[in-house]
Amino acid sequence: MTPVVARTRQELAEARSRIEGTLAFVPTMGALHDGHLSLMRQARRSADAVAVSIFVNPLQFGPDEDFDRYPRTFDTDLEACAAEGVDLVFAPTRDVMYPSEPQVTVKSGPMGEIVEGAARPGHFDGMLTVVLKLLNLVRPDVAIFGEKDAQQLAMIRRMVFDLDLPVEVAGGPTVREPDGLALSSRNRYLSPDERRTAAALSRALHAGADAAADGPEAVLDAANTVLDKAATADPPLVLDYLVLVDPTTFTTISGPRTGPAVLAVAGRVGATHLIDNVSLQLGKEH
Ligand code: PAJ
Repeated sequence: MTPVVARTRQELAEARSRIEGTLAFVPTMGALHDGHLSLMRQARRSADAVAVSIFVNPLQFGPDEDFDRYPRTFDTDLEACAAEGVDLVFAPTRDVMYPSEPQVTVKSGPMGEIVEGAARPGHFDGMLTVVLKLLNLVRPDVAIFGEKDAQQLAMIRRMVFDLDLPVEVAGGPTVREPDGLALSSRNRYLSPDERRTAAALSRALHAGADAAADGPEAVLDAANTVLDKAATADPPLVLDYLVLVDPTTFTTISGPRTGPAVLAVAGRVGATHLIDNVSLQLGKEH
């Protein structure tokens, strides 16, 4: 069955009032792939009804980023939502979301300025602002986000905690291509050669995770060995960062340490910015 499509606040309010029982919500920027679809399936298992939003949020793109060329594939996205049994698709225009330039926005704080936030100034402020607006408009019981964007997920959890938002946040596992590349709407920018180089990101994370029992230094060394090789490939991987961080604060882990950590990587292949991460347990296994 085709989902109800709401394009305005009023259409959304009407469709929302007709939903009975609990509602799970998956916010997206469209160009839907299997990663998004797996979150929709998780949503279906978590609540009576499922809502998806499709909105390319200008506030979270920097001036030199790909807002204008970001893929917009609404018709196929809607078919994918229908195939997943989504009940409601909220697809506002820019004017609906931002009738005028917002003056009051969410400040992501120190966590928004490190790791991916250092590479993309203002990104997390814009992301949290739209997520807060979407949560207020859709009013779900549970909102589901991918672990692929681990810092985004951690920051949304922190916003919900700090601002007492009445919603449960759930994370969904990263869906990958057979060679390990994390699915991303940006993968379609990659040429076949770039695509081959891009696979080094997940290979590096895998190598790092395999060394987790030997501690932080071993993890970073193992991952860097793979990334160094990719830096001289044709086309090359231009590394933005490789960091081992605390899963909830995203602060860098240094010195000997045991317990949970996230190994996060970002780089560019050609003009395409790609990120990935893996969760691991530092220290000897018992
Ligand atoms: P977008 O990149 O479209 O991603 C929408 C959701 O899908 C996010 O929660 C993201 O983490 C998840 N996702 C992306 N790739 C995935 C993969 N390979 N496996 C599992 N989940 C994956 O993230 C955004 O949009 C925006 O920042 C948004 C939260 C919608 C705010 O504008």
